[in-house]
Amino acid sequence: MSSFSEKFVQIIQEHDLSIFLAFFSIVGAFVAVTKALSFWKLLFDLYLRPGKSLKQFGADTGAWAVITGASDGIGKEFACQLAAAKFNVLLISRTELKLQNLSNDIESKYQVESKTYAMDFAKGDKKDYENLKEIIGKLNVGVLINNVATNHEIPTPFILETDEVINNIVEVNVAGFLRITKIVLPRMISSNRGLIINVGSFSGMVPTPYLSVYSASKAFMSTFSAALGTELNSKGIVVENVNLYFVVSAMSKIRKSSWLVPQPKPCVKSILSKIGVSGGASNVPYSSCVYPSHALANWLITNTFNQSFWVNNGLSINEDIRKRALRKREREAAASKAQ
Ligand SMILES: NC(=O)c1ccc[n+]([C@@H]2O[C@H](COP(=O)([O-])OP(=O)(O)OC[C@H]3O[C@@H](n4cnc5c(N)ncnc54)[C@H](OP(=O)(O)O)[C@@H]3O)[C@@H](O)[C@H]2O)c1
Ligand SMILES: *[C@@H]1O[C@H](CO)[C@@H](O)[C@H](O)[C@H]1NC(C)=O
Ligand SMILES: *[C@@H]1O[C@H](CO)[C@@H](O)[C@H](O)[C@H]1NC(C)=O
Repeated sequence: MSSFSEKFVQIIQEHDLSIFLAFFSIVGAFVAVTKALSFWKLLFDLYLRPGKSLKQFGADTGAWAVITGASDGIGKEFACQLAAAKFNVLLISRTELKLQNLSNDIESKYQVESKTYAMDFAKGDKKDYENLKEIIGKLNVGVLINNVATNHEIPTPFILETDEVINNIVEVNVAGFLRITKIVLPRMISSNRGLIINVGSFSGMVPTPYLSVYSASKAFMSTFSAALGTELNSKGIVVENVNLYFVVSAMSKIRKSSWLVPQPKPCVKSILSKIGVSGGASNVPYSSCVYPSHALANWLITNTFNQSFWVNNGLSINEDIRKRALRKREREAAASKAQ
């Protein structure tokens, strides 16, 4: 027994036990009341508290929204909903054809202007960023959605991951994210208004074994958002790291929505209607989690077991996903051989 616990037992023996019982009941009651209050605040945030209006960031006044990874999934939904809110949109992703298609759809459906720029963030090509600086310099940008990201193809131990995947994640999720933010900011600062939404993930909050580089890149995003948000707070610029759990998309490889796994549409709708509301992520400055089932999961993760528990939980889940993904690869390889 440690000397501390020996001493503790000794103190209890020497004193009246009821003092200690009273002390621990007060501590217990305090913890219970704190958790209850934080849960009520969560419900208030999710169902009653309104978010900031998009008008504050230039909606319907000719202002632009810049969206990275705009041609599919969550980014495409941001582009459509911001256009519906009367922002002109600059759409960025790799595939010109997909971008053109979306651009046409948006212009005819929402009567706003749109521009596209096709680039591969993984290439880290200086020329692309110079071109973007040129294009964005001429636009009155009110909103930036840092949505593009790349992930490990399947859960993979770090030591087995290819250098290519590791470099791509750093280039897209960290370097590209910083570069585009720096390109957009000057205009926001000079006009004293702006909204920067960084599309984050639960794996930035709970370190995720087998997705280690992706997970760390999302933690980078969350930490950077808190620091930058604080720097820009007095300049009228809102920075928000939006914490997502799974959403139906190509990246998540989930095709069917459920209570916990929404389609991009309702997910983005709740984000845009709750700007400035922290929801289930109220423990981290400038982070938010407002899609109700995700917010509840976020709250439970931070208010029940400790981090080691969730990290270990993530390891066993990803070991399992990896096994199944490898078996699927084998089956596909066998099938293509048979053809
Ligand atoms: N889906 C989830 O469950 C989930 C959960 C938590 C967080 N997130 C985050 O949500 C964001 C969006 O993910 P998503 O699920 O919507 O992904 P997605 O459906 O796969 O869409 C990714 C978008 O980014 C573009 N893109 C991909 N790699 C690119 C690159 N190297 N350079 C330029 N553009 C690129 C893609 O278009 P092209 O192919 O035309 O380039 C596409 O428009 C990411 O930041 C992700 O980390 C997603
Ligand atoms: C273009 O958009 C239409 C619907 O708007 C869609 O059906 C089609 O698949 C899209 N094509 C490409 C290349 O994305
Ligand atoms: C976290 O909780 C687990 C049990 O869920 C426990 O075994 C472990 O010691 C705890 N770790 C810390 C650092 O408190």
